[in-house]
Amino acid sequence: MQRKFIVGNWKMNGALTKNEALLKEVANGVAQMSGVDCAVCVPFPYLAQTQSLLHDTPIKWGAQNVHQANKGAYTGEVGVSMLRDFGCDYVIVGHSERRSLYGESSQLVAEKFAAVQKAELSPILCVGETLEQREAGTTEAVVTEQLAEVIKLRGIQSFRTAVIAYEPVWAIGTGKTASPEQAQEVHAFIRKRIAGFDEEFGQALCILYGGSVNASNAAELFAMPDINGGLIGGASLVAEDFLAICNAGQK
Ligand code: PGA
Repeated sequence: MQRKFIVGNWKMNGALTKNEALLKEVANGVAQMSGVDCAVCVPFPYLAQTQSLLHDTPIKWGAQNVHQANKGAYTGEVGVSMLRDFGCDYVIVGHSERRSLYGESSQLVAEKFAAVQKAELSPILCVGETLEQREAGTTEAVVTEQLAEVIKLRGIQSFRTAVIAYEPVWAIGTGKTASPEQAQEVHAFIRKRIAGFDEEFGQALCILYGGSVNASNAAELFAMPDINGGLIGGASLVAEDFLAICNAGQK
């Protein structure tokens, strides 16, 4: 069984002094754990601080978004080579907040995914349905569409160096977690969709669950066979909570 992968998504939160305390505490805690892999995706302005505090720890880091072009006249945007300059290994693409608040289409998300891979970083591709879509019974169709643009642009093999995060939109920041069974069902569907043709590839595919994961529900979610870890929002801002989730990933 592959090691669990726990990724913090700070979203638009942080402050220099607070970050330092949080990152040091998390790094110290994770250094005591040997059975889990961890990363944090922080706001762009804190990448330098994160790099300097984490570079000699087992924790990796990354960004939460990137522009699809590498450089140019795109005022206010950030290109992937800049993320490389700060030692990022991961970039979240297609988070539901980007899709819904900034109108990012699956096609744009696929272009960002491609940009990240071309720079030899790993995309963490978020997919997931809204409550309306779940109630209408279209969860699988929605996830299939979100994956389809990436497959069209990059091919199924591109998932060898990518992470998928299943994040039902109705569970993000709401305190309403998908039940382990609900999450497992979609994870199994995604694994089959991406890797149905190759057993070994399927086993290696890392599919995280995200949406109100906390210290008390992490263990039961991680016990599901197709859940390979978590993408953690709110709880990644509190060292004790994030460490408890990382610890649950060890079991
Ligand atoms: P949450 O966010 O853990 O605060 O629900 C998860 C995410 O949006 O990645």
